[in-house]
Amino acid sequence: MRSHIGVAVVFGVLGALSVVIAIPLASAVQTQEPAGENEHAPLVPEAARPAALLEGFKPVADRHVLMEWQERVFNGMNRAILQKKDSEVVAHAWMLAELANVNRFHSEKDDYRRWAKNMLDTAVKLAESGKAKKFDQAKSLARKINAICSSCHDVYRDDG
Ligand code: HEC
Repeated sequence: MRSHIGVAVVFGVLGALSVVIAIPLASAVQTQEPAGENEHAPLVPEAARPAALLEGFKPVADRHVLMEWQERVFNGMNRAILQKKDSEVVAHAWMLAELANVNRFHSEKDDYRRWAKNMLDTAVKLAESGKAKKFDQAKSLARKINAICSSCHDVYRDDG
């Protein structure tokens, strides 16, 4: 009986402690966010990315699947640019950037990874152009992405 009471007291104290710790933690996290700003800034700052979690990262989907979606998203993005639908351009460009981001992990070859990274960076720029409704700029960035697809395919895609 006495030991039960002991356990209850310990848990009670732990519970109280966690509340005491959690409340200031939560408010600290809240105050870190700049008021009103950054609400729609999807680029996670490099420093805020959980690098430790990336260790041992492996893509889950086969590269054919990834490539099929790169093509679909790329086509959708080009359509949106022609139709001047800025929010669609932005959404597709971010998706393409993330697909390219994952593509970097489909090879250990330096040039492969450089092309994938280049595509990632160009897609991020394109998202910014879309947001600013600079459709001509978006178009030329899309052409640049198209050239990157071809460069990598010339070396790594057997069927050309
Ligand atoms: C860094 C390298 C790289 C980049 C960049 C790249 N690809 Fe690929 N892609 C490949 C490789 C390797 C293959 C063939 C082998 C495979 O599919 O696993 C391929 C195959 C494909 C295929 C054939 C589908 C299939 O069944 O494999 C399509 C479609 C495709 N890519 C579309 C694109 C598009 C569109 C882009 C640009 C927006 C792009 N790729 C950018 C490496 C790349």
